[in-house]
Amino acid sequence: MLEVRDVDLHYGAAIALRKVSITAEIGAVTCLLGRNGVGKTSLLRAVVGAHPVSAGRIFWDGKDITGLPIYERARRGIAWVPQGRDIFPLLSVRENLETGFAVLPRSERRVPEEIFALFPVLKTMLRRRGGDLSGGQQQQLAIARALVTKPRLLVLDEPTEGIQPSIIKDIGRVIALLRGRADMAILLVEQYFDFARDLAQTIAVMDRGDIVLAGRREELVEADVRRLLSV
Ligand SMILES: Nc1ncnc2c1ncn2[C@@H]1O[C@H](COP(=O)(O)OP(=O)(O)OP(=O)(O)O)[C@@H](O)[C@H]1O
Ligand SMILES: [Mg+2]
Repeated sequence: MLEVRDVDLHYGAAIALRKVSITAEIGAVTCLLGRNGVGKTSLLRAVVGAHPVSAGRIFWDGKDITGLPIYERARRGIAWVPQGRDIFPLLSVRENLETGFAVLPRSERRVPEEIFALFPVLKTMLRRRGGDLSGGQQQQLAIARALVTKPRLLVLDEPTEGIQPSIIKDIGRVIALLRGRADMAILLVEQYFDFARDLAQTIAVMDRGDIVLAGRREELVEADVRRLLSV
């Protein structure tokens, strides 16, 4: 289980997170919602180790990982699908997937066939350059690349952003399937409440660097959530 406890995060003098606490359990989808610029990506950066925190602690598997670099967290099973996908445009699809090998022991460095069962489109495009894929295909590749590392905490930053409805559905199906396997915690950032509601057991809503509403999905009043998301 992931536990973020009272985390502050700064960019220079500007504060982006203040005393943020959240947990994410194995076998569940925890969804983080919030308007633009409220600190969702910053919280994910803190979790994966892409930006240092200025106060608070982060625990994973019962161990304090607050000071660990991103690479060490990846080796401990934390995989990040960043906002905007960040695939390597000049590498082939296969090479993009293989970048996930770096955190695996040598004997486990192969792309599991299961990845292509989840994302059949990638199988037909292994030699194509990442940059030549459509936005939706790049998003699927970014998720697949994260799965190659065999994560136990999968962190997804707005996987539906700028993507056509049919692929959003595919991505939703994959997340539901991964949740059903019950061997990983999924921390999902979203702006679309409907997508989150269908997948999440727990929902947290951020506003201005803070979590202002959180609870199990069935406990939250939908109107309260929607009010916090409307501009
Ligand atoms: N690298 C950075 N340097 C300085 N300020 C930053 C940086 N990244 C984010 N910020 C600021 O921190 C605040 C939170 O940004 P963050 O990206 O975490 O928001 P977000 O909720 O993910 O927004 P969005 O929905 O647009 O992705 C914003 O005010 C943003 O301008
Ligand atoms: Mg963001």
